[in-house]
Amino acid sequence: MEFKELIEARRSVRKYVAAELTKAEVEAIVTEALEAPSWKNREPTRYHVILDAALKECLRTQAMPEGNAAKCVNAAALVAVTFKKGLSGFTLQSDGTNTPDNELGDMWGAYDAGLASAYFMLAARNRGWDSLAIGIRDAAKAVEVLGLPADETLTAIIVLGKGDQSMPKPPRKPAADVATVR
Ligand SMILES: Cc1cc2nc3c(=O)[nH]c(=O)nc-3n(C[C@H](O)[C@H](O)[C@H](O)COP(=O)(O)O)c2cc1C
Repeated sequence: MEFKELIEARRSVRKYVAAELTKAEVEAIVTEALEAPSWKNREPTRYHVILDAALKECLRTQAMPEGNAAKCVNAAALVAVTFKKGLSGFTLQSDGTNTPDNELGDMWGAYDAGLASAYFMLAARNRGWDSLAIGIRDAAKAVEVLGLPADETLTAIIVLGKGDQSMPKPPRKPAADVATVR
């Protein structure tokens, strides 16, 4: 798919029909998402990809408010996107301390995970899969249900599936509203 066509085709899809995603297809999407830049190439982003029906259902019903849970019925995969704490934006000193390089600290981990997630969703779309990033979720419950590692911070849960693309895409601001060029 041409780049312009691809970025226009990616949209948040909130209604899915049953479809199966294979481990090989997931790995292909992750491999493409790994092309994303990251702080000093630290690659702090982790993808906890849930294909198992029972675990998907636990995550959906226990870690999401009703509104969002309804949007991932029939999801082929739920992907908990995390980043390793203290990696992007940090330097391990010779005395063993791990210190932030500037005022943003672990926000660089979140920045990298956001970039990686954008690549991930575009790679998915290019392979025919729809997606939805879910930020309104119960992080503590998701950590408990999935047994996520303590040294990772959960960002979004990304839904992957075959969806209904007929809803109009929300409009975007004109470039002049968001960019100053001088
Ligand atoms: C970090 C992030 C969190 C989001 N959380 C939610 C969410 O909890 N529920 C939801 O329905 N959409 C969520 N969205 C989707 C946005 O509402 C959507 O991207 C935006 O309205 C633009 O629409 P588009 O993705 O179709 O271009 C989220 C998007 C991002 C990037």
